[in-house]
Amino acid sequence: EKGGYEHFMLKEIFEQPKSISDCMRGRLNANEGRLVLGGIREYANKLITADRIIIVACGTSWHAGLVAEYFIEEFCRIPVEVEYASEFRYRNPVIKEGDVVFAISQSGETADTLAAIELAKSKGAIIFGVCNVVGSSIARASHEGAYTHAGPEIGVASTKAFTAQLTVLNMIALRVAHQKGTITERRYHELLVELENIPSKVEKALKLDNQIQAISEIFKDARNFLYLGRGFNFPVALEGALKLKEISYIHAEGYPAAEMKHGPIALIDEEMPVVVIATRDSSYDKVVSNIQEVRARKGRVIAVVTEGDALIPQMAEFVIEVPKTDEALMPMVSVIPLQLLSYHIAVMRGCNVDQPRNLAKSVTVE
Ligand code: M6R
Repeated sequence: EKGGYEHFMLKEIFEQPKSISDCMRGRLNANEGRLVLGGIREYANKLITADRIIIVACGTSWHAGLVAEYFIEEFCRIPVEVEYASEFRYRNPVIKEGDVVFAISQSGETADTLAAIELAKSKGAIIFGVCNVVGSSIARASHEGAYTHAGPEIGVASTKAFTAQLTVLNMIALRVAHQKGTITERRYHELLVELENIPSKVEKALKLDNQIQAISEIFKDARNFLYLGRGFNFPVALEGALKLKEISYIHAEGYPAAEMKHGPIALIDEEMPVVVIATRDSSYDKVVSNIQEVRARKGRVIAVVTEGDALIPQMAEFVIEVPKTDEALMPMVSVIPLQLLSYHIAVMRGCNVDQPRNLAKSVTVE
């Protein structure tokens, strides 16, 4: 059932071109300019007129929520707050009748996320569920929603669920933005085409597997890792660090690159691998300066860059090239090498990749 792969996690990483396509199937057709989401019909107007959107989730799903915050605000011009479900539910949050809450959950059974939406519902909020498991508790407790259709995810480390969550959330954001008129026709169509092309770009990124395996060999004994990213890639840095922590038991921290100077820079020395997501986007120049700051302190830089980047290879010790796409969609591509890096390091360290210690696939306790 592992389809010839050694672990479910690897199988699921490699399934992503298909799971992302499955997620778009019947919903998106860029050629015809069609974007239909059955699950947001009845409440579509509530979304379009929402004053704000609150996203509640945990773990990797919370990271997907953070990326969504960036693109929902950009495309739809609706303010978004992303909350850890466990914090939200215990602090008497300000919610008013008609507020829109998105709950993101692969399993649909995470106790904290479920409790957060029950609380929001009791105060009159409208709940949109983004779940992978059909018929799960969160899906049932939501007023409307959209399934990610990524297929069963068995590995405890979430991989294909994350990219499918981003796919669904992007489709929702684009659909709302188009109807609201907060996005130009041109950008809307460009993004539909780009979204449709994501599976083939992910496919290409997966071809980096051998290169990443070689890099993993070099860093497998590191005691700490720092992950840096900016803008849309900031949550990807958090996600890369979480993947490494949970399956390889190496301490890792994700940071917005510009925050480095406010503290973490003190950690950098020749023993510290720093993974920098430095694709060509609106933060590129700033991230290049961050790489120089790391180099000046002898940190070992592993940079994820856009194909053809000529500058960063002159500064970073290792460069991983991913295909170009719109910056709002880049997380679905830039996360791939980070998933592979954590996988290979964990395997090399002899860890139980699919069932890491102390962790369960769905956290049904608070
Ligand atoms: O099923 P959910 O998406 O609600 O799960 C949330 C987290 O427990 C989950 O993402 C966890 O952080 C993963 N092990 C991360 O890989």
